[in-house]
Amino acid sequence: MALFHLNRKVSTWLTFLTFFFICVAVGGFIFTQPASASQNAQGNQPESNAYAGSSSCQKCHPEIHGDWTVTRHAHAFSSPIFQQDWDELQHQTR
Ligand code: HEC
Repeated sequence: MALFHLNRKVSTWLTFLTFFFICVAVGGFIFTQPASASQNAQGNQPESNAYAGSSSCQKCHPEIHGDWTVTRHAHAFSSPIFQQDWDELQHQTR
């Protein structure tokens, strides 16, 4: 074959480049796969960093949720003072 007749240096480079591009292609493929498939295998992973909301807790903690809803703490998130701090804190974590 023609490849075997190339000089040794060129043939070494061709081998290197072939493996290099295979590695880049495989690495690129793995890197672009969505991470959600592996996360789902680990259980209930949140899909975003957004506030989940108290209703998301209710299905597993109905009694605690019921007790909590009649407290002042249940309205803490909607407090304008808290919301201002919350906005500023989120700024700091980005
Ligand atoms: C899919 C079910 C599920 C959901 C939804 C859920 N939890 Fe839980 N939570 C659990 C389980 C199971 C435990 C462990 C209970 C234990 O160890 O006794 C737990 C434990 C906790 C604890 C620790 C209690 C302790 O005594 O140490 C807190 C606090 C808590 N959950 C808050 C929340 C909040 C807040 C939300 C909503 C944002 C929420 N959970 C949503 C299932 C859930």
